[in-house]
Amino acid sequence: MAIALYAGSFDPITLGHLDIIQQGSKIFEKVLIGVAFNPEKKGFLPVDKKVELIKECTKQFLNVEVYSFDGLTVDFAKKHNATVLLRGLRNASDFEYENQLAEINSKLNPNIKTVFLTSNPENNFISSSAVRELVSHKQTLTAFVPKPVEEYLRKNLD
Ligand code: COA
Repeated sequence: MAIALYAGSFDPITLGHLDIIQQGSKIFEKVLIGVAFNPEKKGFLPVDKKVELIKECTKQFLNVEVYSFDGLTVDFAKKHNATVLLRGLRNASDFEYENQLAEINSKLNPNIKTVFLTSNPENNFISSSAVRELVSHKQTLTAFVPKPVEEYLRKNLD
């Protein structure tokens, strides 16, 4: 069974991401979550906090590990023996972007394949940017993010 890397900015992790992680954990031997760190982009949450929150939200999945990384996703995958890049698709417009990303990654390392999982329809409306906007309007986030994330955002970003 293959090791899969689910890379992303997770800014913040949402119930949609968690859905993909849960599905992936049942299919793959191991799912590595890679929180991409781009030194040129100031994220909404610091990378270390994102890693901490994702660990908390995924602790029930025994074959899931959480890391941060910079540089290329395919290089991080190779370093950790992951042969699959796991990505989630919510709708047709995700596919356009995701397919392009998959092509680029395949050119960068043909031995690493991208596998798409479709998200549960009840999560299709969720995005990290919607969550960030709702935080700025002090709205409740129960339908969007896992409980530890909601609690952290409520306590720390008032
Ligand atoms: N459920 C909910 N939301 C989802 C989702 C799902 N199943 N799948 C994607 N999203 C949303 C996120 O909420 C986020 O929303 P936003 O744009 O409103 O903030 C958006 O889709 C994408 O976020 P995320 O899934 O965290 O991934 P990403 O597209 O930010 O990650 C990387 C991109 C990190 C994988 C990619 O940039 C990368 O590989 N970077 C490293 C450098 C590299 O290797 N580059 C090579 C290619 S050029």
